[in-house]
Parts: sequence; structure tokens; C-alpha cells
Amino acid sequence: PVRYISNHSSGKMGFSLAEAAMSMGASVTVIAGPVNLSLSSTIKRLNVKSAVEMHQAALNSLPTTDIFIACAAVADYRAEQVQNEKMKKQADNDTITLTLVKNPDIIADVASAKKRPFCVGFAAETNDVEAYALGKLKRKNLDLIAANDVSIGTQGFNSDNNALTVFSKDKRFDITLMSKKEVAIQLLKIISSEYQSRYQSHML
Ligand code: PMT
Repeated sequence: PVRYISNHSSGKMGFSLAEAAMSMGASVTVIAGPVNLSLSSTIKRLNVKSAVEMHQAALNSLPTTDIFIACAAVADYRAEQVQNEKMKKQADNDTITLTLVKNPDIIADVASAKKRPFCVGFAAETNDVEAYALGKLKRKNLDLIAANDVSIGTQGFNSDNNALTVFSKDKRFDITLMSKKEVAIQLLKIISSEYQSRYQSHML
């Protein structure tokens, strides 16, 4: 109830994507962790507090989802035990050990569902960005992955700007440094064109 493990994500990138998708005509649902930002009233917002809750909300959304974009910085591990009362400092112990357990991999589970939407993941990396992103594209069975280098102070976590390299199995697209609102529009144009070519090739 007092201290928790978190990260630097502000929600700006995800919320920019939601607003851009809505302005391009999509019907949008945002599954958001604790984010201090507002959304247009025409966007449906489901608030969750944990990866487990987000996982459940994502799976529940599948019957009505054509395109799933995973921009949330979900923790790979969570504390095994969540305390109900404040953990007090121990006078006789200079160290404490927290046991962490693996969280469900939300987008990997969405991408392996029976009624599978077009799946777009993100990769937040500090090094070997392309190699790790391509590894995630394959391992999580995604259609697209948007990689950002979060070691650069002017982009990524909490900044108003971002730059992305987007990979499909056989293509690469570069979105240079610009505002997250503009990045969102550029990324959605790529998603839209890749989604349409996938859909059309299925129709042939
Ligand atoms: O919120 P901002 O301050 O605007 O910052 C934007 C951002 C840096 C958070 C965003 O651009 C970004 O990179 N989001 C993904 C962050 C992340 O968790 O990346 P990852 O490489 O650890 O995860 C890979 C993919 O798996 C992501 O699509 C992630 O949403 C997904 N994932 C991760 C863990 C998990 N348990 N379940 C998941 O679905």
C-alpha cells in the first residue's frame, strides 16, 4: 500500500495512438494502467492496476478487436506477495529479498488466440534495438513491432517526442524524431496499409 515497483512510462505514446486512431475513423478501446492523462470521451477507457488485470481485459476484448496495439510498458515480473500493510524497516537486517514471479505475456497470448487480431507490439530497448525487436516480432508471433531506443534522453519514456523503427517479417519503416502525436499518425498509417494488404491477400 505504500511502495511499489514501477517504470518511467507516462502513457503519452499510447494515448496519442488512441487519439490518432479515433481521428482516422477507428472505434477505440484503451486498456490503461494508472496514467495521469485524459482521453476524448468517444474513446472507451478500461482502467486496470496490474498486468494480470490488463491481461484479462485484453483477452475479454478479443471478440470485438480487429487491431491490437500493445504500447503499455507492462512489467515482465511482479512481486509474489503484495502486502496489505506497510513493510516496516527491520533494525537487524540491512537487506531484504523480494521474490518476483513472471507476469503473463499479454500480447503473446493475444497473438496466439483463436480469433486473433492484427497484432502490433512495441520494443523498448537500450541496446541492440533492431536485433531484440526482431526477436520479439518472431517469438511473440506479431504482425508488426515498433522499436524505440529508450536510452536516448530526447525520446521514449515520458518525453513528448519519439522515434520508431517499425518491422514486419520482411519490411522496415523509419519514423524519425517528432512529437508523439505525429509519430502516432505515422505509425497508424503503416498499420493501416499493412493490415489492408494482409486482409486483401487473404481475400484473393
Ligand atoms: O508511456 P510513454 O512515456 O509515452 O513512453 C512510451 C513507451 C517507451 C513506453 C512506448 O513507446 C513503448 O516502448 N512501449 C512498450 C514498452 C515495453 O514494455 O516494451 P518491452 O520491449 O518490454 O515489451 C515488448 C512488448 O510486449 C510490448 O508491446 C509490451 O506491451 C508487451 N508486453 C510486455 C510485457 C508483458 N508482460 N506483456 C506484454 O504484452
